[in-house]
Amino acid sequence: MRIDVLTLFPRLFQPFASHGVVGRAMDAGSLRLSFVDFRQFARDRHKTVDDRPFGGGPGMVLMCGPLFDAVEFVESEGEPATRILLTPQGEKLDQARVAELAALPRLLLLCGHYEGFDERIRLGLGVREVSIGDYVLSGGEAAAMVLIDAVARLLPGAVGEPASLSEESFSEGLLEYPHFTRPRVFRGMEVPAVLLSGNHAEIAAWRRGQARERTAARRPDLLSRFHRIRVADSRPAGACGLSPDRGRHRSKSGSGSREIIAIGARVPRTSLRRRNQGATRRLCYLGVVR
Ligand SMILES: C[S@@+](CC[C@H](N)C(=O)[O-])C[C@H]1O[C@@H](n2cnc3c(N)ncnc32)[C@H](O)[C@@H]1O
Repeated sequence: MRIDVLTLFPRLFQPFASHGVVGRAMDAGSLRLSFVDFRQFARDRHKTVDDRPFGGGPGMVLMCGPLFDAVEFVESEGEPATRILLTPQGEKLDQARVAELAALPRLLLLCGHYEGFDERIRLGLGVREVSIGDYVLSGGEAAAMVLIDAVARLLPGAVGEPASLSEESFSEGLLEYPHFTRPRVFRGMEVPAVLLSGNHAEIAAWRRGQARERTAARRPDLLSRFHRIRVADSRPAGACGLSPDRGRHRSKSGSGSREIIAIGARVPRTSLRRRNQGATRRLCYLGVVR
């Protein structure tokens, strides 16, 4: 996968891109990153990329010219990219969206600053708008790093034990169970006996129960969506690029309010909603949601 980032601060990404999961994905050849300073595409000798807003008001607005030129320059080489404009006004990033993005061949991320982008950048570049949460950052670089990190860990070679991805929070629709490591007792707090039992079936059952309890206590919204989940694929849910919402098909036997998410199986064309028609692709979950 290739990700190009258009930013005014490419140097912010240097340590980020050379360490940890992102560095490993690059070393493994599954991720290629480039950072382009779009100030290079400014059209005046002062390298101006922002200007005052028409109609007045505080702050400066990123101009169309440098960003259009930068996008066209970067995309003049290689395959077309899915363009993503980072903005607090976009669709909120979650694990299903991350998995969907990780399945794409190429992303182009646009990092804003100041008051943000001239509206015609959004309109004219055909971007997908993505937010990393309901708060305002001073620039899109931190948001781009969040997105890249989350995507990179789903790519081959990024995570030491890929199986761990399928048990992580959100990957199966629940929060993950708690972990313990040595020592067995720390300041009077003991590791649950079942984890020391060596009985793998009991350990798995305990972990499922903990994941359920934890999700019910902290994120009941997740639990009500994933009423029952049976993982039918060793890959993380959604790693095939299909978000659970997109993969639904209605159960013939179920009531109107319940649907089957079939992931991990080949689903007949006719049983998929129009949106996924033509897909005989592998899905990642098998479960029932309300
Ligand atoms: C100060 S913000 C601009 C906020 C804008 N005036 C608004 O109210 O929607 C500057 C830039 O930071 C980035 N940014 C800020 N918050 C973000 C978020 N929650 N998710 C993604 N990007 C964000 C965007 O690229 C944005 O253009």
